Amino acid sequence: SDTEEFAQTLLEWFDRSGRHDLPWQQNKTPYRVWVSEIMLQQTQVQTVIPYYERFMEAFPTVEALAQADQEEVLSHWSGLGYYARGRNLLKTAQIVVNDFQGHFPQDLEGMMALPGIGRSTAGAVLSIASQQRHPILDGNVKRVLCRYNAVESWSGEKKTEAMLWKRADELTPEQRFDDYTQAIMDLGATLCTRSKPKCDACPVQKNCQAWQLNRVADFPYAKPK
Ligand code: ADE
Ligand code: SF4
Repeated sequence: SDTEEFAQTLLEWFDRSGRHDLPWQQNKTPYRVWVSEIMLQQTQVQTVIPYYERFMEAFPTVEALAQADQEEVLSHWSGLGYYARGRNLLKTAQIVVNDFQGHFPQDLEGMMALPGIGRSTAGAVLSIASQQRHPILDGNVKRVLCRYNAVESWSGEKKTEAMLWKRADELTPEQRFDDYTQAIMDLGATLCTRSKPKCDACPVQKNCQAWQLNRVADFPYAKPK
């Protein structure tokens, strides 16, 4: 089916052209993957790399982070912006150490109860670090799915968002969902970009509805005024 084909072609592209040597792809513990996901939420991979390396040197474990004071954590954050992320990082580390003996919750609800972790980040961490199959739907993935499915409504609309989660779930494969999670984020970050998407290089172009309609520029729909 074209649902299975989506994951398959994406994974082939990821194996061939994806990045496999990023610092957070080494030693994929929940702690290391969580820090990377928070840093990558609003910041590009190339910018994140040196921050991530310095952060891991300063705070190699969740225990080390939990013991830090806020100023020290935020000093490692300066330049990344969105300081609420840095403050939530410290709060979450303290909860994980104080309430869970240093182990991140291993279920979606438990993970989502932590400060700064929404459904998509929880799904990404559990998928990449804990080999659990969960869909993700961050900004990049929303844009890919709105184009691939030619979604004729704004993704912030409740019904549309629910439909996109359902679609994200259907498209997530039963095998290699960890690589798939990374691959679809990379597709949105590198080819299916907000402006000037590189459709000519896109592995899923053949079945992309926006492409077939010659209406790529119409998607994703903007927030209605
Ligand atoms: N954005 C959020 N998480 C990401 C990841 N793991 N790789 C690339 N971009 C991302
Ligand atoms: Fe995005 Fe273009 Fe690929 Fe469609 S063909 S998924 S619009 S990059």
